[in-house]
Amino acid sequence: MSDLDSDLDSAFDPGSFRSLGHRVVDLLADHMAAAARREGPVLPPFTPMQSMDRWPADFPARGGEDPIALLARVVSDSNHLHHPCYVGHQVTSPLPWSALLDFAGAFLNNGSAVYEMGPVSTAMERSVVRWFAGRIGFDPLLADGVLTHGGSAGNLTALLAARQHAASCDVWEEGVTPAGALCLIASDQTHYSVRRSAQIMGLGGRSVVSVPTDTRYRMRLDALAASLRNAKAEGCTVVAVVASAGSTATGAIDPLDAIAELCAEYGVWLHVDGAHGGGAVVSDRLRTALRGIERADSVVIDAHKMLLAPALATLVVFQNGRRSFETFSQQAVYIFGGQDPTETWYDLAQRTLECTKRMLGLQVYASLKVLGTSFFAAYVERMYDLGRAFGELVAQRPHWELATVPEGNIVCFRYAPPHFANANEFQAHVREAIVREGSYYLVKTSLRGKTYLRCTLINPRTELSDLEALLLRVEAEA
Ligand SMILES: Cc1ncc(COP(=O)(O)O)c(C=O)c1O
Repeated sequence: MSDLDSDLDSAFDPGSFRSLGHRVVDLLADHMAAAARREGPVLPPFTPMQSMDRWPADFPARGGEDPIALLARVVSDSNHLHHPCYVGHQVTSPLPWSALLDFAGAFLNNGSAVYEMGPVSTAMERSVVRWFAGRIGFDPLLADGVLTHGGSAGNLTALLAARQHAASCDVWEEGVTPAGALCLIASDQTHYSVRRSAQIMGLGGRSVVSVPTDTRYRMRLDALAASLRNAKAEGCTVVAVVASAGSTATGAIDPLDAIAELCAEYGVWLHVDGAHGGGAVVSDRLRTALRGIERADSVVIDAHKMLLAPALATLVVFQNGRRSFETFSQQAVYIFGGQDPTETWYDLAQRTLECTKRMLGLQVYASLKVLGTSFFAAYVERMYDLGRAFGELVAQRPHWELATVPEGNIVCFRYAPPHFANANEFQAHVREAIVREGSYYLVKTSLRGKTYLRCTLINPRTELSDLEALLLRVEAEA
């Protein structure tokens, strides 16, 4: 037997796989338990160059590295999102069950560009899209959509459809002409993927009309109305108004209902970027803050943000499911057979720029099925309540400022006693010191010339006492 044959036999040996799998799960379970006990640093203090030194490209010709020892080092060197003091970016500490589903999906590898390459995940994907369509308030039988790898791809997917809908020609074939004929309208708080989408679509960054926000960082309706009027007067076709629910920096939810009203008046596509806050549709209580979302043409929701899924799984839901085919159902006869795409809805690549993808529907579907919808509603409610309670705590303490009263689980705050000569510098310094010592992972943001510390409360194990201790830590540094 050749070396390769014996190597393949051991690489694909079910017995070795079973025992390796058990050891991997043991390692991760031990890590999760230690993280829950708040042991170890949240983020180990390695610079990018130190990390490069730790992970050189010194691959042996014949293998031999102990897989568990290697994985143990990966776990140790990583940012520990299961640590309750992880309060940084909007990336969740995934449910162990969802992570296992991701693993199973990677193993089965039924990427679903076409139905036959992912029969189960195709059906699961349609079911979760329709279920979320119902929660959004769309007619689930009319609505449809697709799952993408992330909110950035999701925003692009929805805006490509909006662009085709708004354009007077087949943009896919003929391109965007003339320059300046199409624009997008979004608030000054919109996620950068929206501007990037405009750039990718060939509209140019300058085609994005930036609408100012109010004191709570929500899109100003008077300014939106003026932008729509101006676009009309200048003969510029508005591809879409993009509303945030909520915004990346502060979690602000734009006034969706009133925005929908203006979009209806001007006949403009409304896209709601609910990558962060759209998950709240699972909760009857929180759903009320999203009133008007049901009038959107398209909505994006990241399951890997507020639905405890591992990155990445994004729902792109269209009120009118037919629109989801508008961009990508170009004739690829060898794959789709040139049929009406609504008849071949199950070939999902007709709705997304991706070809092969992971079994994205699996984690969302099987998590909802096994844990139940009320589990997710209760989780989102708890995190939003924690954000509001933390906001109150900050507001009550002397010398602390909030950027805005938190709408949900994103809180921007700063410590600025009157004697501070440079409060902006202090926030940046204290954040760096805390992250370096490994006690918390938090981020910072700049809003209207002020630097704020910023927490996203996304780990279900984070408690108000952790956040109170964080305030004390900052005060001690001052
Ligand atoms: C409002 C909003 N939209 C889009 C995105 C991009 O999502 P993703 O990181 O999944 O590409 C983010 C990411 O934080 C976001 O906050």
